[in-house]
Amino acid sequence: MTRISVTVDGVRYDDDVEPRTLLVHHLRDQLGKIGTVVGCDTSNCGACTILMTGPDGHPCGVKSCSVLAVQADGVEVTTIEGLAGPNNSLHPVQRAFHEKHALQCGFCTPGMIMAAVDLLSENPDPTDTEIREGLEGNLCRCTGYQNIVRAVRAAAEIMRAEGVTSFSSNAEAGEAGTPDAGLPREDVPEEVVPVPAP
Ligand code: FES
Ligand code: FES
Repeated sequence: MTRISVTVDGVRYDDDVEPRTLLVHHLRDQLGKIGTVVGCDTSNCGACTILMTGPDGHPCGVKSCSVLAVQADGVEVTTIEGLAGPNNSLHPVQRAFHEKHALQCGFCTPGMIMAAVDLLSENPDPTDTEIREGLEGNLCRCTGYQNIVRAVRAAAEIMRAEGVTSFSSNAEAGEAGTPDAGLPREDVPEEVVPVPAP
């Protein structure tokens, strides 16, 4: 067993793990972070995507089934469960997925959202082509890609309009949640008011 210290969604955890344990299994089985799901276990589907923030402070989207838990030692991890802001206000990407009906069964949604947050942290104004390229590592078996692209575009608009950074450290916030990412419902721009499903 190897002792690791990982900060997940703003909370530090010190645990003994087997060297072969995958990070996704550590998150789910040991820390109870079951919002991060396993769709394939072979690095194909992206359902297990999380954000890892290293010493440079830059969050990076990672498929947590492709990382050993021991590799996360000393790293800050954000899962879908740590994305919401104070008072559980949804992150703009979460809101946009809801408003744009960007999910059907929802199984791919945690990974899609985390991948989208990662994309928007790199490119705050992506074209539809760039959104598709940015999410190409994430599969939706319900094939709801059209609305997913619309949702990411809407999230980008919200975030630019409100000056929201796509991701802020939960550790800095001192609690689960991002201090500046959540928007109260009344602040959502007109463009992301619910539209009828096509
Ligand atoms: S479960 Fe990690 S990529 Fe599918
Ligand atoms: S919504 Fe079902 S897999 Fe994407």
